[in-house]
Amino acid sequence: MSIVFTIFVLSTFISLPKTISQTQPCNAISLSYIHNSGYQIPPASATPADQAYNFQSTLTLTNAGTGLLNSWRVFVGFQHREILVSASNAVVVGDGVSFPVNVSGSGGVVLAGFPVSDLKSGIETAGDFNQMQARVQLVGTQFGVAPPSVPLPASLYLVNDGYLCSTPSSPANNETHVCCERDPNALPITTVEAEPFETRQEGDISIMYDVVSSQETEYMAQVTISNHNTLGRLDYWQLSWDWMRDEFIHSMKGAYPSIIDTNPCIFGRQGEFYKDLDFSKALNCERRPIIIDLPLDKTNDTQLGLVPFCCRNGTLLPPSMDASKSVSVFNMQVFKMPPDLNRTQLTPPQNWKINGTMSPDYQCGPPVRVSPTRFPNPSGLTSDSTAVASWQVICNMTQTKPNPPKCCVSFSAFFNKSIVPCSTCACGCTSTTSTCSTTTPALLLPSDALLVPFDNRTTKIADFARDNDQVLPDILPCSDNCGVSINWHLLSDFKDGWTARMTIFNWGETSFADWFAAVELDKSMAGFKDVFSFNGTRLTGSNNTIFLQGLPGLNYIVAEADGKNPKKDPRVPGMQQSVISFTKKSIPGLDVARGDGFPNKVYFNGLECSVPPVLPITGHGIRMTIAFSSVSATLIMMLFLHNLL
Ligand SMILES: *[C@@H]1O[C@H](CO)[C@@H](O)[C@H](O)[C@H]1NC(C)=O
Ligand SMILES: *[C@@H]1O[C@H](CO)[C@@H](O)[C@H](O)[C@H]1NC(C)=O
Ligand SMILES: *[C@@H]1O[C@H](CO)[C@@H](O)[C@H](O)[C@H]1NC(C)=O
Ligand SMILES: *[C@@H]1O[C@H](CO)[C@@H](O)[C@H](O)[C@H]1NC(C)=O
Ligand SMILES: *[C@@H]1O[C@H](CO)[C@@H](O)[C@H](O)[C@H]1NC(C)=O
Ligand SMILES: *[C@@H]1O[C@H](CO)[C@@H](O)[C@H](O)[C@H]1NC(C)=O
Ligand SMILES: *[C@@H]1O[C@H](CO)[C@@H](O)[C@H](O)[C@H]1NC(C)=O
Ligand SMILES: *[C@@H]1O[C@H](CO)[C@@H](O)[C@H](O)[C@H]1NC(C)=O
Ligand SMILES: *[C@@H]1O[C@H](CO)[C@@H](O)[C@H](O)[C@H]1NC(C)=O
Ligand SMILES: *[C@@H]1O[C@H](CO)[C@@H](O)[C@H](O)[C@H]1NC(C)=O
Ligand SMILES: *[C@@H]1O[C@H](CO)[C@@H](O)[C@H](O)[C@H]1NC(C)=O
Repeated sequence: MSIVFTIFVLSTFISLPKTISQTQPCNAISLSYIHNSGYQIPPASATPADQAYNFQSTLTLTNAGTGLLNSWRVFVGFQHREILVSASNAVVVGDGVSFPVNVSGSGGVVLAGFPVSDLKSGIETAGDFNQMQARVQLVGTQFGVAPPSVPLPASLYLVNDGYLCSTPSSPANNETHVCCERDPNALPITTVEAEPFETRQEGDISIMYDVVSSQETEYMAQVTISNHNTLGRLDYWQLSWDWMRDEFIHSMKGAYPSIIDTNPCIFGRQGEFYKDLDFSKALNCERRPIIIDLPLDKTNDTQLGLVPFCCRNGTLLPPSMDASKSVSVFNMQVFKMPPDLNRTQLTPPQNWKINGTMSPDYQCGPPVRVSPTRFPNPSGLTSDSTAVASWQVICNMTQTKPNPPKCCVSFSAFFNKSIVPCSTCACGCTSTTSTCSTTTPALLLPSDALLVPFDNRTTKIADFARDNDQVLPDILPCSDNCGVSINWHLLSDFKDGWTARMTIFNWGETSFADWFAAVELDKSMAGFKDVFSFNGTRLTGSNNTIFLQGLPGLNYIVAEADGKNPKKDPRVPGMQQSVISFTKKSIPGLDVARGDGFPNKVYFNGLECSVPPVLPITGHGIRMTIAFSSVSATLIMMLFLHNLL
């Protein structure tokens, strides 16, 4: 049977076997990309470069080496603004992508094997090409390459760790080849090759998809989302994926689909197959469901909760802050469809995506089959129970600084009465603004202006400019538009130490529970001593960052609220403040006032804030020199600050 199939395959798709004999034999993973056909498609374009063409091509992977290739992934570097419309036996890896995929922006696409993702060696299978080879038929649209010219990818390689690929062979007969051999310098993978599972990987977020029990038509999956990044945070996380085999979610505990909708089942194949099932009791039949966490008060709900680590309203904190709040778990009952009605026939969903409000962007890889997870036995016995099958999805941050940012920093110092405020439009401006200038640099502020909303600062700024003989621009600069701003105030600078005061303002409508911040100080960090009213520690694994969070009971920054007398007083931001002290011992050449005392990066809840481009400068090199010890000076400064704010 397999020989017949192979011959069929060869005669149908490999148009020119002689090409293969021309190249050197590849005794490893061999990749080939063959352009099979193409033709012009409407609309007709006057510009030849913008004319669209259909293309059909075949990507072939052959395991001509000795070991097993697990979870193959291949990068195809398309170069003619290709739009991929379908791919057989493969899925596109990426941010919840589904066909058609516009690959022109990313310069290419990573394809992963689906439903079969492992390629066995010829030795193991007696040369059975069905098990050694993956053939992906690609259909898409490209621009500007008219037949008989042939659009071929610029690059082609195996993405799996530990392989080195040759450069694509020069195109001949509409075809290009690559041979990928094991990198002799790669970490030992020989042991992994021997077993059918990949090793677990590390990343910013790890999601485990553990099938904990399996029946013919349904299985129970436990999904565990763990945050591993020391500064990563998600609020109201939303998780989504694509079902690949028409599965649907019958029930769930510990989380919930954002929409309860079984109509696709009732009107679809599922309704036909599960004739006796009451679909009003099922949860979700979307091909791409969105899962959200349950609120806190469902923790002990016997119907929905009672899953350890569930029900925290979608908050995932850094593990160093609270390991029990860095994990979310939920269980779901998944119903399968023919032809997969076999308890060993399990297919993880693909194209995972996780996001949250005030969260960095994450990009997830494909689910990778790993050794079955072991769970502590729920009945309290010392033996562990083992999952039926486990897959791991790794999601890495793509950017910690969202565009535009969501928080900003202002700088001030004891030697300069002006505050360098947050930059104009630091967190974005709507383009239609005409009453303010989006390009004029922000105006220096008097210290009391920091405490009132931007809209109510105008008179204070005007008075301050007049007192300092400065001319106001005709059109005033726009606001920073940030929901959170952080003032870093250089409070004192002595011979042997210095202090800073950090104030966090919440100008938004929601409070922050379990907030945290991080401050990056390159040169002066070695002298970090003490934080007075926050819990401040050195960030694990970093030598230049302080991690700050609220002390127990003060881990909450309230939302902006009305002033005492709303008719007369401006609104009041939520606020938290602390003094941080440093020594200068054993840091020669430290110049706190000229920059070393100001952070180069500041994070709030894991997101990098906008930092102003200038520092407050000292007028005449005045340096505060105080005779008594720095500790008592700090106390005096703290009294001062209580008066000020
Ligand atoms: C594909 O993406 C590119 C850039 O990302 C864009 O310029 C182009 O218009 C897109 N094409 C289609 C058909 O959406
Ligand atoms: C290469 O592809 C073109 C169409 O794009 C086709 O006309 C031609 O016959 C192909 N050549 C070979 C050798 O297959
Ligand atoms: C995620 O990042 C880790 C290291 O930080 C890296 O080893 C891994 O390959 C990355 N995974 C993906 C899917 O980008
Ligand atoms: C749930 O039950 C546990 C143990 O009985 C208790 O400690 C916890 O406070 C309860 N949680 C909620 C939200 O009621
Ligand atoms: C949970 O989230 C909802 C909005 O989705 C919010 O209204 C509620 O206050 C949150 N509860 C807690 C305890 O944070
Ligand atoms: C401060 O935070 C660290 C790390 O999260 C924690 O281990 C420590 O107990 C906290 N200290 C106080 C006083 O809360
Ligand atoms: C289920 O799958 C296994 C392995 O793929 C196969 O041996 C078995 O015959 C199948 N069972 C049924 C009922 O189809
Ligand atoms: C998260 O992703 C979902 C779709 O997967 C989208 O509807 C939602 O708006 C996103 N949330 C945020 C905060 O970006
Ligand atoms: C901090 O660590 C980085 C490398 O991780 C190193 O280059 C740098 O010199 C270190 N800085 C200090 C002040 O130790
Ligand atoms: C502050 O500014 C807002 C918005 O411009 C305005 O509605 C409010 O009256 C101002 N409050 C005071 C006390 O000036
Ligand atoms: C205070 O600092 C600002 C910003 O660097 C600067 O423009 C101003 O001249 C300084 N004021 C004095 C009195 O030095």
